[in-house]
Amino acid sequence: MDIKKIAVLGAGQMGNGIAHVCAQSGYEVKMRDIEQQFLDKGLATIKGNLDRMLKKSKITQVDADATLRRIKCVLDLKEAVKDADLVIEAIPEIVKLKLDTWKDVDAAAPASAILASNTSSISITQMAAVTKRPQKFIGMHFFNPVPVMGLVEIIKGQATDDATVDVIKAVATKVGKQTVVVKEAPGFAVNRLLVPALNEAVFAIQEGITTVEDMDLAIKLGLNWPMGPLTLLDFVGLDTALYIADYFVDEFKDSKYRAPALLRKMVRAGWLGRKSGRGFYDYSTNPPKPGRF
Ligand code: CAA
Repeated sequence: MDIKKIAVLGAGQMGNGIAHVCAQSGYEVKMRDIEQQFLDKGLATIKGNLDRMLKKSKITQVDADATLRRIKCVLDLKEAVKDADLVIEAIPEIVKLKLDTWKDVDAAAPASAILASNTSSISITQMAAVTKRPQKFIGMHFFNPVPVMGLVEIIKGQATDDATVDVIKAVATKVGKQTVVVKEAPGFAVNRLLVPALNEAVFAIQEGITTVEDMDLAIKLGLNWPMGPLTLLDFVGLDTALYIADYFVDEFKDSKYRAPALLRKMVRAGWLGRKSGRGFYDYSTNPPKPGRF
């Protein structure tokens, strides 16, 4: 199957990155969100990232202009998916919202279209089951920041067929990513490892064994991570990490995945990381100031 037109649902952190890399690789993209302000913000992020790549001579002005020309911003869901060959969903991680959206997409998209979710935890099989094409439903998990990170996890739901896996592998390769295929399981491969590691960093802060900046320095230099775990938590979003940890406990029925109380308290306080201006660091200063816990 030849994919030419891609609908990306959600213009947030992940959605705009996915729209960006797809358009830059030559796909016609419709980026859809529920409010014009979200589309405007997503498009502004794409323009900013293209400018940065242009300044570093990674792309030419012609590439940047062509990329932007290939992205159409759309508010109406039916309009977004009606002629799509592939729909990639990157909307908030709320089960009911995902299931309702997929029912609507299934009714409006061509019968031949492949449906892919960028979920970081929700069951592919559960989402596939609300559509009439579970064999064409798949997980396509990108990493943040999408234009930079080199991986796409491909997740096979219970009914996903091999032809769909092959098409998604080809699309991911065309947008410059390497792929791993994972059978459906909570957290797939990367988050299964990452989320318990991030939790453990927070437990260490909660127990007072070290400071935020020293834990980050230790892991950056000791394990060669590009960011320390607490900086990474602020980058990913504390609410997202907590959601995944809670989902793991529900799904695995194993308390080893439990989230630290400190993480839950910070989310309740609205300290979600960079996006809210405060998490383990305070982003109102430059450089950000590490918090004391
Ligand atoms: N778009 C395009 N390019 C970008 C970019 C963006 N949004 N952000 C950074 N870059 C580029 C920069 O231009 C720079 O390019 P050069 O190497 O050519 O100079 C390069 O990326 C590095 O950027 P910086 O020098 O500005 O900063 P850095 O060295 O600190 O790197 C980083 C930034 C790429 C984000 C790096 O810190 C990193 O890799 N961090 C870890 C990110 C990570 O772990 N992501 C996964 C999160 S988990 C997830 O997404 C899944 C989930 O389900 C929760």
